[in-house]
Amino acid sequence: MEKRFVDDFLVIDNIQLNENSFLVRMFAPKPLPEIKAGQFVNAEIKDCREIFLRRPFSVFDIDYSNNYLSIIVKILGRGSNQLARVIKGDTISLIYPLGRSFTYPSEHEKILFIGGGSGVAPMLFLAKDCGLPRDNVDLIIGARTFEDHINVNDYNGYGKFHFTTDDGTYGFEGLVTEHPLMKKNLSSFDKIYACGPLSMMKAVAAEAVKKDIFCEVSLENSMACGFGVCLCCIEPTKRGNLCVCTEGPVFNIKDLKW
Ligand SMILES: Cc1cc2nc3c(=O)[nH]c(=O)nc-3n(C[C@H](O)[C@H](O)[C@H](O)COP(=O)(O)OP(=O)(O)OC[C@H]3O[C@@H](n4cnc5c(N)ncnc54)[C@H](O)[C@@H]3O)c2cc1C
Ligand code: FES
Repeated sequence: MEKRFVDDFLVIDNIQLNENSFLVRMFAPKPLPEIKAGQFVNAEIKDCREIFLRRPFSVFDIDYSNNYLSIIVKILGRGSNQLARVIKGDTISLIYPLGRSFTYPSEHEKILFIGGGSGVAPMLFLAKDCGLPRDNVDLIIGARTFEDHINVNDYNGYGKFHFTTDDGTYGFEGLVTEHPLMKKNLSSFDKIYACGPLSMMKAVAAEAVKKDIFCEVSLENSMACGFGVCLCCIEPTKRGNLCVCTEGPVFNIKDLKW
């Protein structure tokens, strides 16, 4: 089992990406271990009496040269709201690294990444970290409306981006699964990776099954401990009831009872 750590990370900056999403970059007090896309941290919510449980966040970026770890926090409830308010100089206690990463693609494979909501974070990390040429990588990023998208210009070198909005205010109008790449070109991809709302991942999985394409998704079941003790994140799978925090969060769709 991979070694886990609990440390206080120092907030370097907190950049607002859109109305509800914040990029929090933190300095680790000791050299970061290797962390791969799909793995997550469990963050303590400080100064909030009602919240005892930590909250899980996918690792968005690792900068080993500066010893920085970044997450994207999308405000959903009280914990994420508190975390999104951190400022330079604050500390955040993290348990890290947690969970299993995506299976990284092999050289020459053609990859489709599909991200929505906070699921964009691990998709961008994998696109950057997998080392494939830009031409081999397509990313469909979905959101309800233009304002919900984040600026991904820094990632243009890692793949070709396609945006969707439910209301047509930016990019293709419709769900990610209705995008022409999904409807007409899916068979041209060797692997599909998806992270986002459950309904989105299920719809992507259904298309991947039809075309018999390798597909991994990252589940966001509610969690508490984050390392296999409390059993509150159980997912019934074809391999039995599994803890998403230790056996996932990344699963091959062939293992899921969807
Ligand atoms: C492995 C993993 C990785 C994650 N990565 C990220 C990330 O990179 N960025 C990010 O912003 N969030 C991520 N999340 C989700 C994040 O942990 C939740 O948004 C956070 O725990 C919500 O806490 P809260 O106190 O703000 O909300 P709460 O007050 O606990 O809940 C507020 C409302 O949101 C609902 N809710 C809580 N968690 C979720 C969820 N995961 N999915 C859908 N609804 C939920 C609750 O049912 C409730 O209705 C991840 C979750 C998991 C399990
Ligand atoms: S969160 Fe406790 S076992 Fe998964």
